[in-house]
Amino acid sequence: MIKFSEVTKRFNVGTPDETTLFDHFSLEVDEGEFVSIVGSNGSGKTTLLNLLCGSLPLDGGHIYLKDRDITRLPEYKRAAFIGRVFQDPAKGSCPDLTILENMALADNKKGHYGLGRGINKRRIEEYRTLLETCNMGLENRMQVPVGSLSGGQRQALALILATMTGVELLILDEHTAALDPKSSQRVMEITQQVVSDMGVTTLMVTHNLRFAEEYGTRLIMMHQGQAVMDLAGEAKKTASVDTLLAKFNEISVECGN
Ligand SMILES: Nc1ncnc2c1ncn2[C@@H]1O[C@H](COP(=O)(O)OP(=O)(O)O)[C@@H](O)[C@H]1O
Ligand SMILES: [Mg+2]
Repeated sequence: MIKFSEVTKRFNVGTPDETTLFDHFSLEVDEGEFVSIVGSNGSGKTTLLNLLCGSLPLDGGHIYLKDRDITRLPEYKRAAFIGRVFQDPAKGSCPDLTILENMALADNKKGHYGLGRGINKRRIEEYRTLLETCNMGLENRMQVPVGSLSGGQRQALALILATMTGVELLILDEHTAALDPKSSQRVMEITQQVVSDMGVTTLMVTHNLRFAEEYGTRLIMMHQGQAVMDLAGEAKKTASVDTLLAKFNEISVECGN
């Protein structure tokens, strides 16, 4: 499904600050996998997602999605089949537009519908059904500007907006990190629901080790541009937060911290 093949990524090339973050990095993710990615700050998690979405160019190697080489495909073209939710709840939707308008815009990603043409009644009912899955009462507030919603409600909406056009891949970059513990738990539950309803292949970066342990079908720990832990199947099911903490400590000792 996703294949990073010998990917190299450098920053500040040709300056004294030149760094190589990924050096012939390879990783494969199967269709339908829900991968949690953890790792210390600066380990390369966001860069990995940026390379996949096309927000950053590669210095070497290839990225494939469903056997299609997307290495040189521009970001806006990848957005047609990749949905992304960021850490900042303000980034996933337009604050001055209503929930309904935001949904119509997202729906238009594939060019079918527009605000100008009016949003037909059947579409509105479909939007309502989607919002109901969040169990946050959003379906009763479709005419409310998104800017007046709470952070948790906005992230729940962002998840719906990111996936409603049937994307092939869902990318979550610490999408619960800016929320209070209760909202963050709720958004995590909605994430699980959306991912299993849609069966969409998902990469989720999180600092929350409990979420990484509890959710997903695979767990990867990044360190200095490498996957230093990669658990799937039974190994993922039986991994505990303690296992993850022990590995974190081991890395930290190796780094002399
Ligand atoms: N725009 C950038 N310019 C220079 N260096 C960068 C840039 N983005 C990332 N890096 C380098 O890559 C490392 C990993 O960054 P990042 O992928 O954001 O880590 P993470 O998301 O795991 O915290 C950073 O420590 C830094 O050295
Ligand atoms: Mg990051």
